[in-house]
Amino acid sequence: MKTSSIKTIGILTSGGDAPGLNAAIRALCISGKNKYGMKFIGIRDGYRGLIDNDTFKMDKMDFSQMISEGGTILGTSRVKPFKNPKPDPKTGLFPVEAIKETFKKNKLDALVCLGGNGTNTTASLLYDSGFNVIGLPKTIDNDIAVTEQTFGFHTAIDIATEGINAIRTTARSHGRAMVVEIMGHKVGWLGLYAGVAGNADIILLPEIPYDIKKLGDFIKKRYDEQGYAIIACSEGAVDIEEAKLGKKDFKRARLEMPQSVAYRVAQEIEAETGIETRTSVLGYLQRGGSPSAYDILLATELGTAAADFLANKDFGKLIGITDGAITGIPLCDIADKLKTVTEDSAMLKTARALGICFGD
Ligand code: F6P
Repeated sequence: MKTSSIKTIGILTSGGDAPGLNAAIRALCISGKNKYGMKFIGIRDGYRGLIDNDTFKMDKMDFSQMISEGGTILGTSRVKPFKNPKPDPKTGLFPVEAIKETFKKNKLDALVCLGGNGTNTTASLLYDSGFNVIGLPKTIDNDIAVTEQTFGFHTAIDIATEGINAIRTTARSHGRAMVVEIMGHKVGWLGLYAGVAGNADIILLPEIPYDIKKLGDFIKKRYDEQGYAIIACSEGAVDIEEAKLGKKDFKRARLEMPQSVAYRVAQEIEAETGIETRTSVLGYLQRGGSPSAYDILLATELGTAAADFLANKDFGKLIGITDGAITGIPLCDIADKLKTVTEDSAMLKTARALGICFGD
């Protein structure tokens, strides 16, 4: 066992849950304990538990079965300590002061935060506030700008692809156009990858506003060829009119929409083409269930690497993947930057080469 002055580590999971979280936690705890004699403190429900000192000792936990368990054993929330911070009515402490207390009460030498953009942006702010922090990249959206991969993404691709394939049989049987809504409010990676893997005829992404006229023409042509059409539609898909709206107007327009965008797209397609069109929203299925082997392996690699970064006191880093290798990337480089689908994205070029329509 190597020596490390970093002995007691807090772990939290924050933001939308994703398959692979427990595999990462398991790998961090097993390797941290075996290699460096580290002890781990579980922090419940993301940053809420860090502020409220809602913690528990993890040394008695049985990690053997966690590798393939979905969700997060720690619980999660979308609490953001730096967003409009107010003093707690009972303690009078501001969130960062309460976090300092939690560090003291649990004798934490460092904190590991597993999450997406928001989580790791908060982790960066905590690091700037003097805390020893490391981030791990979790999200089914794969939208963290500084890392090529995030765990949860591959499992969600598998689930969404299976969903599209299941919809194809009913589309073909009924001679319908079927709109399958896929998660991804601001970024379309999941819709793009699952759409290609699921052999969708059309993929609608937040990054590529669609023209219903062009979309309708393509669907009619495809329908004449095969008797049905499959549209993979990101929940953040926009049309060319919406794309002209400012942020506030767009948000308001979306809030006023009675159902998610796939239902509107289906109505527009039916009106434009006269083809009977139905909608299926995959929703939280894409975040549920056990992680794929790919995500288990990715999460496990990142979790064990995090133990080494802790022992080396290499804080303020997101342990991510760059050029295919595990890398410590400065958390400050994240700063809420989203990795969006761009015209030079390899998978987008592949999709266009296959003749998949993006409504543009
Ligand atoms: O960020 C992951 C994600 O699943 C998005 O794809 C989705 O739009 C969002 O979370 C849903 O958020 P919530 O779980 O808060 O409804």
